[in-house]
Amino acid sequence: MSRVCLGSFGSFGIVPLAFIISACGNKVPDTSVARPTAADKSPALAVRWDPAYPEIDLPPVWDPDGKLIQPKNFREMVFIGAPLTPHGLNDGKANFPEFHNVYIQPAAFKAYRATGKWPEGTMMIKELQLVDDPKGEFPDGSRYLPSGRGYFPGPVNGLDVSVKDSKRFAATNNWGYFNFNHSAPPYLAAAAAKSVEECAGCHIANADEDMVYVKLYKPILDPLPLPSK
Ligand code: HEC
Repeated sequence: MSRVCLGSFGSFGIVPLAFIISACGNKVPDTSVARPTAADKSPALAVRWDPAYPEIDLPPVWDPDGKLIQPKNFREMVFIGAPLTPHGLNDGKANFPEFHNVYIQPAAFKAYRATGKWPEGTMMIKELQLVDDPKGEFPDGSRYLPSGRGYFPGPVNGLDVSVKDSKRFAATNNWGYFNFNHSAPPYLAAAAAKSVEECAGCHIANADEDMVYVKLYKPILDPLPLPSK
């Protein structure tokens, strides 16, 4: 099987994710791929190279008006955490109810682990998932299951995405922000960048590192310690 460095793709190409393997010379460890083979005809998550984002396997796709196309099959990307802001603890009107399931591209995950930086073309994909049965046993929306009292996942209800692209979003610390609706799917097919006031401003003012609330995701971004023998 031949190995190909990410940066060496001159044009778009479809590469099955299953064929992503590690090591790409010394430059970008852990994020290279093998070329596809005929055996892999319809992978669930097709890798699509864009020379604008040489380190990224599933790059953002833009329409001619500069809108971000809804990322495909994002639930098959890498899950990095689920902050929770239930309506029940926010006077019934949390801005981003309730679980925030955050996914990123596999190459972004590996690159951050290797370098501590998010590569150009990184997407943070946050799907909102409501608490189920919020009018149940308690006014705060919690309820009991045999595991204990808590918040349990119900229907999904919205999609927000941030994209790192220093050419398109230099004015907002290199990240653009997109909302594909805060309601039940189907979500919008494409979304225009939101204003600084609506999104980027709060990330500029408050985020932990490079516009991302990365401390929330560290427990999963950090490699799992090996079991002791
Ligand atoms: C008032 C502050 C505030 C505003 C406004 C805001 N966010 Fe965030 N955002 C946060 C916080 C805090 C987190 C992490 C905790 C959480 O998800 O509750 C976050 C997390 C995110 C994440 C996950 C990756 C990350 O950076 O941690 C995305 C994607 C995101 N926001 C997109 C948006 C979009 C799109 C908008 C505008 C529609 C927006 N945000 C507006 C505060 C804000």
